[in-house]
Amino acid sequence: MASVNSKTLVLITGANTGLGFEIAKSLFARPNPYHILIGCRGDMGRASDAISKLEQLSPESMSTAEPLSIDISSDESIAAAYSQVQQKFGRVDILVNNAGADLDTSVASGKLTPREGWNRTYDVNVTGTHLFTTAFAPLLLASPSSTRRLLFITSGLSSLTEHASGTSARYALAPAGVWPKPPAMWLAYRVSKAGMNMLAAEWARLLKNDGVLVFDLSPGFLNTGLGDDRATGEWRDKSKIGAIDPKIGADFCADVVEGCRDAEAWPLRVLRRDSVQPW
Ligand SMILES: NC(=O)c1ccc[n+]([C@@H]2O[C@H](COP(=O)([O-])OP(=O)(O)OC[C@H]3O[C@@H](n4cnc5c(N)ncnc54)[C@H](OP(=O)(O)O)[C@@H]3O)[C@@H](O)[C@H]2O)c1
Repeated sequence: MASVNSKTLVLITGANTGLGFEIAKSLFARPNPYHILIGCRGDMGRASDAISKLEQLSPESMSTAEPLSIDISSDESIAAAYSQVQQKFGRVDILVNNAGADLDTSVASGKLTPREGWNRTYDVNVTGTHLFTTAFAPLLLASPSSTRRLLFITSGLSSLTEHASGTSARYALAPAGVWPKPPAMWLAYRVSKAGMNMLAAEWARLLKNDGVLVFDLSPGFLNTGLGDDRATGEWRDKSKIGAIDPKIGADFCADVVEGCRDAEAWPLRVLRRDSVQPW
């Protein structure tokens, strides 16, 4: 078995569940050897469970994983995670900014006030993602690998072009003379992900001459727990409303981790699995 230091070191935030876990699973099932830091906030038993599952699903895998406690909404957590990775590895080869929040449903159910929902969504998807990336950028730059990559996970809901055109059934124009007007669904989420797209563009600009390839990926509508009120155990099956198996989005992201889409890295665009998403 190859030593951890000879493997490609991948850090995935929010990898205890959903798309992040599925990306780790997809990488584990491939022949290339990875050491994956499974980012998780709060109860780290969930990261350990996720790792056990990876090992069970791919018993012959060349890859390994370990948990990393990281809450990107907390400066203290970011600093502690940075110190841990810096001291243990001194580098990160691939950083996957997967952690994300959609709290619009929690606002709709009255669990959060609109201000709490909007601010927390922005805190995770934009501020936290940026501050986490800022903290870890030196570790990407310290990687001797020729395959350094930084991934952002955006959303099909973030397209300004599609939203502003008023032509899509998804964005039907609001009726005249009605107040309050029915807002677009998941508005705080989509606004935050549009902000994240600018963030990805900025990181692509910043790291262009350092050989770090930056990607902004739109993996499709996935049947994960995103947006559900998991605290009350409510777990809607989104496949009934068109969500696809998260494995499909994860395989796409894992392809990017492996370099299959490197030719499309610059200039930055939002990549869908089989097309480019309009800004
Ligand atoms: N599902 C979709 O249709 C879809 C489509 C396009 C893009 N995406 C994006 O894909 C990414 C993963 O979403 P998902 O669908 O897999 O949702 P998910 O199942 O809810 O997973 C989200 C992950 O992010 C973590 N997270 C949330 N806030 C965090 C914070 N402050 N610090 C660290 N981790 C945090 C969650 O941790 P906890 O378990 O502790 O909550 C969880 O591990 C998100 O960026 C999302 O916007 C999803």
